[in-house]
Amino acid sequence: MQLLDGKLTSNTLKDEIALEVTELLANGGKKPHLAAILVGGNGASETYVNAKVKACKKVGFDSTLIRLDSSVSESILLDEVRKINENPLIDGLIVQLPLPKHISETKVTETILPEKDVDGFHPVNLGRMMLNLPSFLPATPAGILELLDRYNIETSGKHCVVIGRSHIVGSPMSILMARNTKVGNCTVTLTHSRTTNLEEITRSADILIVALGKLEFVKACMVKQGAVVVDVGITRVKSATTKSGWKLKGDVAFDEVSKKCSYITPVPGGVGPMTIASLLKNTLQASKQN
Ligand code: GUN
Repeated sequence: MQLLDGKLTSNTLKDEIALEVTELLANGGKKPHLAAILVGGNGASETYVNAKVKACKKVGFDSTLIRLDSSVSESILLDEVRKINENPLIDGLIVQLPLPKHISETKVTETILPEKDVDGFHPVNLGRMMLNLPSFLPATPAGILELLDRYNIETSGKHCVVIGRSHIVGSPMSILMARNTKVGNCTVTLTHSRTTNLEEITRSADILIVALGKLEFVKACMVKQGAVVVDVGITRVKSATTKSGWKLKGDVAFDEVSKKCSYITPVPGGVGPMTIASLLKNTLQASKQN
């Protein structure tokens, strides 16, 4: 078994992005600028947004973090989005999800200008992705493609099984793995909570992408010998061995599954850092087009 090391690969990607920023500035360009809106103080979202802001600094981007109280009205949030849409100094905008229940994620996503939608969640970007036209790809699926590419994982003609049909990961992932692109050309099965014969399907996967958000859901008996396993899940569990008292675990029972597969992403240090690197890549692209 070989680890698909997202930390290492994302560092390489970030170095490449930082180099491009240096060249951009040397040629009289401006620093790429990402704005992030965080509504409320949900622990996990706070951690993710802070990591995104920190990564911006590392590659030489400007960043703006806008924090809004969890009781903020939908109309005030939409006004903030519109202000950033109109600000020529800001290239990309993300609104960290999930949002409080009284705010429509769809309305917020649709209000972000597609040219600044570096999360790739706007219907225009998702539609263009579907048609294999240039677009911002959702960061987590794009990070997974990049990881598979950099480890030269053969995907063409393989059976790829995706568990989970979220708009952020599972659904776009299934589309991307089936596209006629370098990393793609898979026969894809998208499975979800109503799938009846899940284990039978996952056991036939050459590439298994797990994004359902259930701690250690995938056991060794669900995985084919030699499969490539990508774990998108992140759950915080209490730990007596870490300073923070927490550690992160995935949707895959790593200890037993890793003995059976050819490649696997660890949690942490797999898909998470690749997601951030992809967001930076999208932001650099947005800045070049701005
Ligand atoms: N919440 C979980 N993943 C993401 C992501 O990639 N982008 C945003 N904006 N929110 C998220």
